[in-house]
Amino acid sequence: MKIIAIANQKGGCGKTTTAINLSACLGRKNQRVLLLDMDPQGHASLGLGQQTSELSGLYEVINNETCLSDVILPATQQGLDLIPSTISLAAAEHLLSCMPERDRLLGMLLEQVENDYDYVIIDCPPSLGLLSINALLAADQVIMPVEMSLFSLDGIHRLRETIDMISAQYDLNIPFTLLPTMVDLRTRLTREFLEHIENNYKPEEISDIHIHHTVRLKEAVCNGTPIIDYAPNSIAANDYDQLADEVIAGTDRLATEELGMQIERMEQLKEGIPEDNWVQHNPLQQVILNYQRSSGDIQIAGDFNGWIPDKDVETHVSNDRLQKIFNIEPGRYEYRIIVDGVWQHDPNNPKQVENEIGGSNSLLQI
Ligand SMILES: Nc1ncnc2c1ncn2[C@@H]1O[C@H](COP(=O)(O)OP(=O)(O)OP(=O)(O)O)[C@@H](O)[C@H]1O
Ligand SMILES: [Mg+2]
Repeated sequence: MKIIAIANQKGGCGKTTTAINLSACLGRKNQRVLLLDMDPQGHASLGLGQQTSELSGLYEVINNETCLSDVILPATQQGLDLIPSTISLAAAEHLLSCMPERDRLLGMLLEQVENDYDYVIIDCPPSLGLLSINALLAADQVIMPVEMSLFSLDGIHRLRETIDMISAQYDLNIPFTLLPTMVDLRTRLTREFLEHIENNYKPEEISDIHIHHTVRLKEAVCNGTPIIDYAPNSIAANDYDQLADEVIAGTDRLATEELGMQIERMEQLKEGIPEDNWVQHNPLQQVILNYQRSSGDIQIAGDFNGWIPDKDVETHVSNDRLQKIFNIEPGRYEYRIIVDGVWQHDPNNPKQVENEIGGSNSLLQI
């Protein structure tokens, strides 16, 4: 079970919208998802059409009135359970502050459901009190929605300082991903803001996915429905679908790396190599792309080979088939094929993303 906190102490930057729609898209991809509404405002619960005044939620669990499994609302959407927030959650900060496990209680509670879910998505409140600290300490990953405005730059710095402080205090390494939201590339402010983020953060700290600005998301929340149901063909439905793919690819990558390292450790152990000299690297995966030989002279260029046609790519030709073979680490890559000198997306691959020059790149996920 992977726990992802959606956090940023800045208000209104798209945390709840992201929590609802990422959870729904993961559920739609046959993942078992628990959305934990940790904001006393209860917007994530409302956004899934749940009126919470009559319900019990996390406060009642923290107060020992009931247990975690009793407050889970099953199947609010396909594959998506919800722990709703009630207004009493506002009092939870005070309750927690009197407890010895005040900052770790959530992580301990979630252990009860670790065999029941693939993902727990936590919608954090816009503050850095004990509720958010509990979420950050329980999390394997933090997604930080960043609205394209100058105020949110300040929010990123503050939240990053807090994550660094928590990581140092508890000797943790919490990976975080900045998720640009309300992106409108037609505005200069958005373009400058994206550039600022790219200049100040490492590529692995920034999501490849941008959530575009669209009124459809606001309408979907008011309707109590995720965007994939409300407007399945909208740009935002596609954005959140891709974000879910990115999250799953990240989880698979970690699992594969972990497995690869375990195998490598066992092999090195078998070979009697002293532990200090063990070498660790990510396992490479072989990719084979198949084409008709009659299609013409085909080359492959992508971000895995620096966009240099056929660099590190082997070509096998047999009968009427042409194969392009290369080895890459698990991850998400964009590429194009060059047919008789003409660059284009791969017609065999339905997954495409828009590129900066107005065309589309093909998407490869390992
Ligand atoms: N990509 C988007 N395009 C347009 N509007 C958006 C987008 N994302 C969110 N919104 C709208 O912006 C407002 C704030 O979004 P949201 O509630 O998700 O933010 P939040 O960070 O959870 O806020 P809070 O800090 O109050 O919890 C909402 O009205 C929402 O519908
Ligand atoms: Mg919110």
